[in-house]
Amino acid sequence: MSASRSDALRVAAECRRVLAGNRQEGISAWDGKQYSFTCPSPTTYPFQWWWDSALIAIALLHVDPELAKQEVRCLLQGVQPDGFMPHMLLWEKSAHDRALAEYSIRLAHPFYTATIQPPVIGRTVERIWDATHDVAFAREVLPPLLRHFDWLDEVRDPDRDGLIAIIQPDESGLDASPKYDAAMGVPYDPPSATLPTLQRSMERLFRTYEPLSLTDQRLADAFLFEDVMVNVIYADALRALARVVRETGGDTNLAAGLEVRRKAAARALVEKCWDEIAGAFWDLSGAREERVKVLTFSSLFPLVLPELDRGIAERLVREHFLNEREFWTAYPIPSTAASEPAFDPAWHTNTTWRGPTWMNVNWYLYWGLRAHGFADIARELARRSVAVVAKSGVREFFDPLTGAGQGARDFAWTTLVLDLIAAEGMTGEDDIRAAAAEVPG
Ligand code: GLC
Repeated sequence: MSASRSDALRVAAECRRVLAGNRQEGISAWDGKQYSFTCPSPTTYPFQWWWDSALIAIALLHVDPELAKQEVRCLLQGVQPDGFMPHMLLWEKSAHDRALAEYSIRLAHPFYTATIQPPVIGRTVERIWDATHDVAFAREVLPPLLRHFDWLDEVRDPDRDGLIAIIQPDESGLDASPKYDAAMGVPYDPPSATLPTLQRSMERLFRTYEPLSLTDQRLADAFLFEDVMVNVIYADALRALARVVRETGGDTNLAAGLEVRRKAAARALVEKCWDEIAGAFWDLSGAREERVKVLTFSSLFPLVLPELDRGIAERLVREHFLNEREFWTAYPIPSTAASEPAFDPAWHTNTTWRGPTWMNVNWYLYWGLRAHGFADIARELARRSVAVVAKSGVREFFDPLTGAGQGARDFAWTTLVLDLIAAEGMTGEDDIRAAAAEVPG
């Protein structure tokens, strides 16, 4: 199942085709704003999503760094004066009524949602900085971005422990993950009951929280998660932004303030979420911060943080990541461990994050493995990631046992595999461009 050089070239060409085909450009009915971005999938997901676009911009660096910058510029039009950043921007709303009707979302405004998504953007801006050293771009994007990070700190950390909270499962981007089942009252058996129950529960949640503030106890009882993956992405973004602020000659006090928040989040993750016995991290649910002991990729995600204790990183990798009964499947890594009763590799529940493999997860973990000195394992993960796309195309997610493609077609963040191909030197960057040129329009 390892990928050959010709597989890598073919995959790279397919990724280029998808990134070009998913572009959306025009003038929105939203105050005549101009938009130009890469949507997750033209049929299923024609809008601009916060974490999708931040991930897609990283893939775009392997096509044209100017497109990566454009992706971020378009996205940042969504940051509000108070720092709130919606998880979806509905640029071409009227053209996509059907798609819109299928989502369980709440709007804060006719053209954007009332909910958030993980702030991958810090890593994106760092990668653009590394690739271009464009000081003017960094100075342009940092103020709105930092406003959003202030908002997260001020509004989403009511207990002031350094960890930010989500108030609805979609806010992590991991919508139907079984780690939320208990809080949402969702069964995994029979699989046909999972999605309808989740949708009803989501509607109930929206009705509950609309009139409440984040500090209202009723909200904490309804759904309040300090999610490990979200907080790892948050801490990683703070590290990345502090670095970009420093290296672009920004205010050193500002950079130091971001570092203080990063350290607080990273420390709280270990103090509150690390389970020494299980050798895994657990999300915290509700005001009482109950540990949710459902084994998903989130439990391993602190590997992404370079400062994670060496002993903890070793245990995550040896006891779980490389465990064939949990995560080291033929096409790793499953979003939910194969050992969980809710594990649904073949997508029988018809909903997401309950087993299938996603490229954004592999991408983050690839770099985390490398940061902790597991270069060989990272290389094998990259090989298998290329192999699954070579086998099944640029799909939304994949069966972790068979590699079958599932969900949307031409799914844009799956093109992050370009970054793995480049990092492993599976083809040269010139080869990637040449292969793309051979693809018929
Ligand atoms: C699905 C994913 C979510 C993503 C969205 C758009 O809902 O679960 O994480 O942002 O699709 O691709």
